[in-house]
Amino acid sequence: MSEPARFLGTLAQALSGMTLYGDGHPARERGIDAAYQELLDLQREVPQPMFTFLGDEVIFGRQPLRDLRNWDWSARFAEAGIQRLEFEERVSREEFEGFLDQMLARITFADIDTSEARQLGPSSIKFGAVGVRGGAELAVDEVQSTATITFSLGEEVETIRWLHDEVQKRDTLPLAEAEAVVRSLSVAMHGDRQMMLPLLQLKQFDQYTTTHSLNVAVLSMALAEYLGLGAADVRAFGIAGLLHDLGKVKIPIEVLTKAGKLTPDERVLMSRHPVEGARLILESEQELDLAAVVAYEHHIMLNGLGYPQLRFRRKCHEASNLVHVCDVYDALRTTRPYREAWPVERVLPYLEGRAGLEFDPSYVNAFITMMRRWESQVALIADEKTPLPAHLAAAVAGMGAPAPSQSAGPTSTD
Ligand SMILES: [Fe+2]
Ligand SMILES: [Fe+2]
Repeated sequence: MSEPARFLGTLAQALSGMTLYGDGHPARERGIDAAYQELLDLQREVPQPMFTFLGDEVIFGRQPLRDLRNWDWSARFAEAGIQRLEFEERVSREEFEGFLDQMLARITFADIDTSEARQLGPSSIKFGAVGVRGGAELAVDEVQSTATITFSLGEEVETIRWLHDEVQKRDTLPLAEAEAVVRSLSVAMHGDRQMMLPLLQLKQFDQYTTTHSLNVAVLSMALAEYLGLGAADVRAFGIAGLLHDLGKVKIPIEVLTKAGKLTPDERVLMSRHPVEGARLILESEQELDLAAVVAYEHHIMLNGLGYPQLRFRRKCHEASNLVHVCDVYDALRTTRPYREAWPVERVLPYLEGRAGLEFDPSYVNAFITMMRRWESQVALIADEKTPLPAHLAAAVAGMGAPAPSQSAGPTSTD
């Protein structure tokens, strides 16, 4: 078992012991001592360990702890509003015990006297809720401040680029890396006390598929979480968002970045990307059937138009309907060779106007409400190497700016 997993094991044992034995009982003290010792051991390797509890999964720093998959306590912590746990260097035994008391109070839903909790003052142990589910308000007062995530999206972008190269060269999708990107994005999104949506801005036209895949993954996960789906489903939607345009790796870059009108042959090539993407996904990984369905269906409209054309009209999968809205949002928000990016104030009414025709109205409505409610949590990242901002207020300004042309240009969302 890994060191971080061992520490969490002793932490859970100490908490169990505390529910059974009162203050000063030797068994209780032994449990606390053991967990404290494990923490000190862990801190020799990692001075400031950080854990994220995403329901069925535990992330240590940015790595999932495989040996703690489906660990009961992770769900228990997450449900008690403890989704992030961070230790600074030099935690005293006394502080550690105080922290365990507070953890226990949360887990057992005992009344916690917040004034007393605050008297504990600045602590070297921070824990709290880091995501907002279903738009519920977070009682920030009661939550000790959580760590600020300051890493950039550089690694994720590089991995997506590499992933696309692999698919192009070898026709196989490296699934572990795709999953790692989604996990890592999920950690980045559960930022500082509240959900955040890091969206990359396109710098070069030839990087569109990379940037767009990342953004659609982020938006799809955000919307799935906003709708109250569980952690595993949220990640499955994230994978589907990440891979929806995978078929584009087979399209020559000149066609993808063409400023003018596509020739009929080029259009045929372009319109094959959903089928091609679904094929690539299924041939590499049968388990990814949801992502394959989404890749296949993400340009099919609610009214049956779009492509590929279905021989018999049928409903698309819910995941396809959800990703479809996120896909068009990001496409319109991005400057393309043939048109400027649209501002949010133009994109949202456009989506609304196409509810019932192109989009499933329930997803459009949820998406619009989410974007309005979480407006201040959208971080537009101009450069993937830039550390994500701690507080996103500054990024809000970017939501409406720059003011691109309002001319009625083509609304191609490829
Ligand atoms: Fe597409
Ligand atoms: Fe797309």
